[in-house]
Amino acid sequence: MEGVTTQSALLPTYGHRPLSIERGQGCLVYDESGRAYIDFITGIGVNALGYSHPRVVREIQQQAALCIHTSNLHLHPYQDSLAAKLCEWSGLNRVFLSNSGSEAMEAALKAARARANRAGRTRHRIIALHNGFHGRTAGSLAVTSKPEYREPFQPLVPDVVFLPANDVDALRNAGGEDLIAIVAETIQGEGGIFPLTPDFLHAIRSAATRHDALWIADETQCGLGRTGARFAWQQHPGAGRPDIIVTAKPLAAGLPLGATIFSADAGAAISQGMHGTTFGGGPLTCRVALAFLEEVDRLLPAIRDNGLYLHAQLRELACPIVKEVRGRGLMAGIEIDAPGEPYVRKALDAGLVINCTHGNVLRLLPPYIAGRPEIDQACAILRRILR
Ligand SMILES: Cc1ncc(COP(=O)(O)O)c(C=O)c1O
Repeated sequence: MEGVTTQSALLPTYGHRPLSIERGQGCLVYDESGRAYIDFITGIGVNALGYSHPRVVREIQQQAALCIHTSNLHLHPYQDSLAAKLCEWSGLNRVFLSNSGSEAMEAALKAARARANRAGRTRHRIIALHNGFHGRTAGSLAVTSKPEYREPFQPLVPDVVFLPANDVDALRNAGGEDLIAIVAETIQGEGGIFPLTPDFLHAIRSAATRHDALWIADETQCGLGRTGARFAWQQHPGAGRPDIIVTAKPLAAGLPLGATIFSADAGAAISQGMHGTTFGGGPLTCRVALAFLEEVDRLLPAIRDNGLYLHAQLRELACPIVKEVRGRGLMAGIEIDAPGEPYVRKALDAGLVINCTHGNVLRLLPPYIAGRPEIDQACAILRRILR
């Protein structure tokens, strides 16, 4: 048999940065030599309670000793409670638990199709947004706009139309009786941290209602406390409520768990046997998620405060290379007038972990436990490397 190194046996889907993380504590990660780095990307928004959070560790250890996996053939004590908690958080009605953001989006798209089919509709147009990112599986990729992600895999799921974000007129003109869903991140993450305006969110709600379509709010990156609210759309109450919310990333504080949260009407499209998952919603992830949501509720005021402080500090960086600072709460994008990747490397050399999205946007997704000292430290490094 031909010998391979571990690295070469991996499909080369990622270019790894020169940091091998051995462990983490709070807002810090440590490499194998023991060097500490402030982590302001947190596994792309997943480790929202930081590293080795005592409650998360305790819940994992206790549940691992009891039962890790049951499959959905059997009940366990945490699934129903988690679903109820997500309904309480969102004001929606039914939950499907899966393993990732992409999978949560698949469930949303399937529900939109099934709902339209039940109504005897034969055409299924979906509106998505330029710069939108919803995942890499076949359905979620079809509503993701980036050509580099899409092109190699054509033909994708058909009948998706892309509109510019925040263009209310374009949205008004794009409706039609074949429209079954409008898919949008409340704050575009991967696309460069672009918040949707309250007017545009309102226009999504109106267009969806007018055409008997579903508003699918993808809050995989911006939801679950990240912006200082339970969900980012709730910061614009005048816009109304989505029909489906897609969420994942930090939900189980580092363990894989996705959730699709449905209104009664949207959820009614899926009945027994129509959709499923082997791993989704197991006892370990659900128990940790319940603990995570409790911790987030406690942290929301601090997230709001520290988010305002972070954005104020970023706006004061006063580096000519910085074109714009965007985002809300502990979700920030610094658009610079240069390719971002070299600055990600410089930040890493200086002890700060961030990443770059959209080519020239430095993305910060600090842990919810980050306070002013960590924000000051991170901003000092950013100021130094961006000068
Ligand atoms: C808004 C949004 N939706 C969906 C996804 C896909 O999530 P996952 O990578 O867990 O499949 C992501 C991932 O970055 C995301 O940011």
